[in-house]
Amino acid sequence: MRNLLGSSILLLSCALSLAIPTEPPSGLRIPLTKRRSLVDEDGVISSDALQNEVNILTMKLHRGLEAFERNTGYLHPKDNIENGKRAKGADPLKEIQDGSLWQGDVFVGTPPRRFTVDFDTGSSDLLLPGEDCTVDCQGHKRYKPSKSRTAVDLNKNFTISFGDGSTVQGNQFLDTVTIAGLTAECQTLGSATQYSLGFAKSEFPPDGLMGLAFPSVSVFPSSPFFQTLISQGKTTKPEFSVKLSQEGSELFLGGTDEKLGTGVTAFSNVTDVAFWQVNMDSVDVNGTVAVQGLSAIIDTGTTLIIGDPTTVAQFYAAIPGSKNASESVGNGHFTVPCDTIPEVSLTFGGISFSIPPDEFNRGRVSKESLDCIGGISAKNLGDFWVIGDLFLQTVLTTFDVGNLRVGFAQLAPTTAETDLRDSMLLSQTN
Ligand SMILES: *[C@@H]1O[C@H](CO)[C@@H](O)[C@H](O)[C@H]1NC(C)=O
Ligand SMILES: *[C@@H]1O[C@H](CO)[C@@H](O)[C@H](O)[C@H]1NC(C)=O
Ligand SMILES: *[C@@H]1O[C@H](CO)[C@@H](O)[C@H](O)[C@H]1NC(C)=O
Ligand SMILES: *[C@@H]1O[C@H](CO)[C@@H](O)[C@H](O)[C@H]1NC(C)=O
Repeated sequence: MRNLLGSSILLLSCALSLAIPTEPPSGLRIPLTKRRSLVDEDGVISSDALQNEVNILTMKLHRGLEAFERNTGYLHPKDNIENGKRAKGADPLKEIQDGSLWQGDVFVGTPPRRFTVDFDTGSSDLLLPGEDCTVDCQGHKRYKPSKSRTAVDLNKNFTISFGDGSTVQGNQFLDTVTIAGLTAECQTLGSATQYSLGFAKSEFPPDGLMGLAFPSVSVFPSSPFFQTLISQGKTTKPEFSVKLSQEGSELFLGGTDEKLGTGVTAFSNVTDVAFWQVNMDSVDVNGTVAVQGLSAIIDTGTTLIIGDPTTVAQFYAAIPGSKNASESVGNGHFTVPCDTIPEVSLTFGGISFSIPPDEFNRGRVSKESLDCIGGISAKNLGDFWVIGDLFLQTVLTTFDVGNLRVGFAQLAPTTAETDLRDSMLLSQTN
């Protein structure tokens, strides 16, 4: 992996503080907040919003796969580039309000300045709008290296190209980055001089992006924030957990917030250390296997579940009355009858986790339609499915960097105590 450790050479100019914390904190919570859904007040799906999400996801995976090839010198094993072209998000993004992302706070620089970021397990870089950003940065808070005593200019550009031809460009810096009291020093971050429409405030409410995947898909390339925390001995456990739920969400760094889960945790080993990619045993419809033997990328940065077109068509074939809605709604989407939404479940490590029917239903095609968009769509991104928060909001997810595995547990019922905590967190974030 040439270059991956490039930034460590520069540590000379980025002084690591020698003060070693006496006892590293054993896990810290970051409350996450979520913006809108993809349906309007009549429960009708916005096909533009849906299509934008597909495009944003496509672009993100595309640049991750490209970075993987550049960083490692070989193709990602599940990349489908040999079967044709690597999928591109060829459609320009439509302007819509408020992307549906989970966001939380990060503090950058000395003195620390607060930014909001989308915590994204589907990418690996930390990206913020820079003070000299001139394109699509309006309304976002800017990173000002000149105001940070710990900022080090790496004199290194970065360019993130999107399939629609737009690019995010900027310069790389090292700086101190803190989340909920856990501080990574000399963390590489990209200070954008140019954002793209996908990051414009109206589309993307947080200021920046915090990637939580592995170094091999880093575009910079450099050590991702959580990997830096581990290498600097800042976490008691090289693991984080995520709960994404409308009634109280959190990212927990340095372990798993066990009390949010219940029952057995189903662990699956990461098969390709790039994205958080694991084997998915099957996708079931009302308890009967519809497709099996799949590979899944676990991605907090998308609301969607997207699979390759062949297995997604196979999945919908198990649902009577389902239709390919490529013409009516957009390429890759399917409908199911609104009055007989099945219980869809995903099986990992031998345990099935179901998606409640009212979550699987993404919304009516139109106000009077009897057809509803199903929560699984098709796109030829590679030989894998991408599992976003449509599924992740039904489970407690452990991202275990130390053992290279992902764990899922059922969510514990919320108690009065957690309700109280959530309302306290809510009042803090407002
Ligand atoms: C960064 O990009 C600009 C314009 O694309 C170029 O002029 C400059 O030389 C680049 N700097 C580095 C350090 O690569
Ligand atoms: C997962 O990886 C661990 C450690 O490499 C190994 O011991 C275990 O057998 C693996 N589990 C499966 C199901 O492959
Ligand atoms: C859905 O139908 C379109 C044609 O309308 C076709 O191109 C596409 O391959 C179909 N999708 C799947 C996943 O079968
Ligand atoms: C699944 O169960 C629901 C609720 O009982 C029912 O309406 C639906 O027809 C079933 N679908 C399939 C494919 O079995």
